Amino acid sequence: MGSIFVCENQDGIAVVKFDVPSEAVNTWTEAAVDDFEKVLVDLEAQKSQYRGVVFISGKANNFHAGANLNVLGGSVDLDAFHARCTFFNELFLRLENLGIPSVAAINGQCLGGGYEFALAMTARIATDSRRTLIGLPECNVGVIPGGGGTQRLPRLIGYAAIELILKGQMVPAAKALELNMIDRVISESDDLLAQAKIFVDEIASGKVILKRESPDLSALDDVAVMARQGVLKVTRGRELPAPMLAIKAMQEGLKVSLEQGLKIETDCFIEIMKSPESKGMINTFFLKTLSDKPQAMIPMGVTPREIKKYAVLGFGTMGRGIVIDILRRTGKPVVVKDIPEALEPGKAFVRKVLEGMAEKNRLRVSVDSLMELITPVSEWTDDFKDVDLVIEAVFEDPAVKDQVYGELCAVVPDDCILASNTSSLPVNRLAKGVKNPQRFAGAHFFSPVWKMELMEIIRGVDTSDETIHALLNAAGELKKRPVVCNDNPGFIVNAMLFPYFLRTFTLLEEGVGIEKIDSAMMKFGLPVGPVRLTDEVGIDVSYLVVTKSLGLEPPKALENVYKAGRYGRNKNGKGFYDKEGKVDPEVLPLINPQGNTKDMNVEEIQAALFTPMVMTGHDLLDKKVVDDPRAIDIGAIWGVGFPPDKGGPMKWADITGLSEKLFGRTFY
Ligand code: NAI
Repeated sequence: MGSIFVCENQDGIAVVKFDVPSEAVNTWTEAAVDDFEKVLVDLEAQKSQYRGVVFISGKANNFHAGANLNVLGGSVDLDAFHARCTFFNELFLRLENLGIPSVAAINGQCLGGGYEFALAMTARIATDSRRTLIGLPECNVGVIPGGGGTQRLPRLIGYAAIELILKGQMVPAAKALELNMIDRVISESDDLLAQAKIFVDEIASGKVILKRESPDLSALDDVAVMARQGVLKVTRGRELPAPMLAIKAMQEGLKVSLEQGLKIETDCFIEIMKSPESKGMINTFFLKTLSDKPQAMIPMGVTPREIKKYAVLGFGTMGRGIVIDILRRTGKPVVVKDIPEALEPGKAFVRKVLEGMAEKNRLRVSVDSLMELITPVSEWTDDFKDVDLVIEAVFEDPAVKDQVYGELCAVVPDDCILASNTSSLPVNRLAKGVKNPQRFAGAHFFSPVWKMELMEIIRGVDTSDETIHALLNAAGELKKRPVVCNDNPGFIVNAMLFPYFLRTFTLLEEGVGIEKIDSAMMKFGLPVGPVRLTDEVGIDVSYLVVTKSLGLEPPKALENVYKAGRYGRNKNGKGFYDKEGKVDPEVLPLINPQGNTKDMNVEEIQAALFTPMVMTGHDLLDKKVVDDPRAIDIGAIWGVGFPPDKGGPMKWADITGLSEKLFGRTFY
């Protein structure tokens, strides 16, 4: 008998407790699979001693979290992996055919390969704990269920399985019961093991007859077509391997025996493992986990400064957004300073957004009680005397910011943390206007603040570790994903974007079509192409950033359009595209005065625009603006919508071999 799965005879019922040691959750590590086989062999040999078997986790709030993504994300020998999947599925078939009833006793997460394990049992009982979540989320991490999930779940619950699998939905116990994914729900306060033993006895004695009508799957082909269309709508036409192969596994596998279906599923799983997108998606999952808890980025043993009271300077676009997040996320008081005329409109805006959240049940307290936490001021009142963190979001003008800092430093405590939301001014330059610059840093939020998760924390030469820790702590309270970097033009995200946009404009000059460029980058997976994005953000903004903030010679295509007074479709109705969303013919002589024509295919355009990003990422690491490629990838995914299935620009360069080609090494 192994040590992860331990079987005990409890009055004629085999109770198998499993617990992967030194891990927060149970996963199918190699050792766990091998150990499971041992316990299965024993159960097969001794089953005459038992009326049934109960599988229960030894962990307090986790039944089983499924596959071990560290294994899937690494380099995998596909032949060996195929053999391993087949072996794994054979174990589940043997469990299913054990000859005595088996029951999964579920409390906490029961996900992926963990739920597939439960699906191979005769029945499932779960607690109604808030932590009980059941489902097959594999498609969300770029793979498909590979332990029989695509075969057993539809055979159990019918077409509902298709949506559950494609969306990777995880449902609470009550919903799982309603869908027939589990058979019984008990209260969290009940004794799960005792109830599971009663349940297995009831099944063994025939007292309980389980609901197991084979669902009608006769319209499977039509449903699969619809499912495929549904997926393509969500992916904007991109055939991502995970959902496509999950549909294939179900469409083909459900027409044959379970054993044959499992083989089809394994083939599809191997197909996925060959796809770069699965590696990208798994990396994104790790990046998400890494940035989920900003407080964990603070060194062990360090207690960051507690923030009891916030202040925000400037109640414009960004100030309002930051106030919204302070209120709804922290419930702490915030002083907001702006000119008198800006205060009421600012408050009205904050209220409107909070009311929208309240309507969707996203707030735990009333909008009125949150609004009471705001102290709007237009003078440097005593309200600043006990502020712990000030976030400045006034005009992007160094003279204005200097003046504000001078006045601010006279009223806040000497150790109050000060952060600027500047998008383009050097933090080291701004620090000169601050008394005690060690408490000053950049805190760059993205717009709209309450929707965008990224926050760049910019360390100036004088910034202390305590200041960075306080800002990481604030990022945690505000539920942001922070990336920390040293001062640098464009910090991380804009630095990655500039060369991408500059190359876009030189491509236009060379004669590549506007729509061709935008559509190529949408096929790459970006939510919007670069020309359309410039139009939406403002052509004037882009031009001023390139010329003023970066001090660069602007590409002719951008300069001509700006100088012709075309500031963007949303700004003055004149941009690259017209109101109907078509390319405005008036713009063509401006972007390409020589009438050049250049034919580039989708891949060539993608490479032309992606390569400068990767080269910039390399520079950021080289110049030690960041010390980890993950910071760049987090910035790109959550700051600009870089496709999650590509795992971030640095990871994607590694996966596709571009980093080896350009620099003779990988970034990760
Ligand atoms: P905005 O023009 O919407 O708001 C600025 C506000 O600051 C105005 O309400 C103005 O009355 C107020 N203000 C000006 N001088 C002030 C002073 N001395 N004291 C108090 N309030 C004062 O500008 P926005 O877009 O909110 O930008 C603010 C800062 O955030 C800028 O540094 C900008 O670069 C940065 N930023 C902007 C982003 C955006 O998407 N708009 C994104 C990220 C950063």
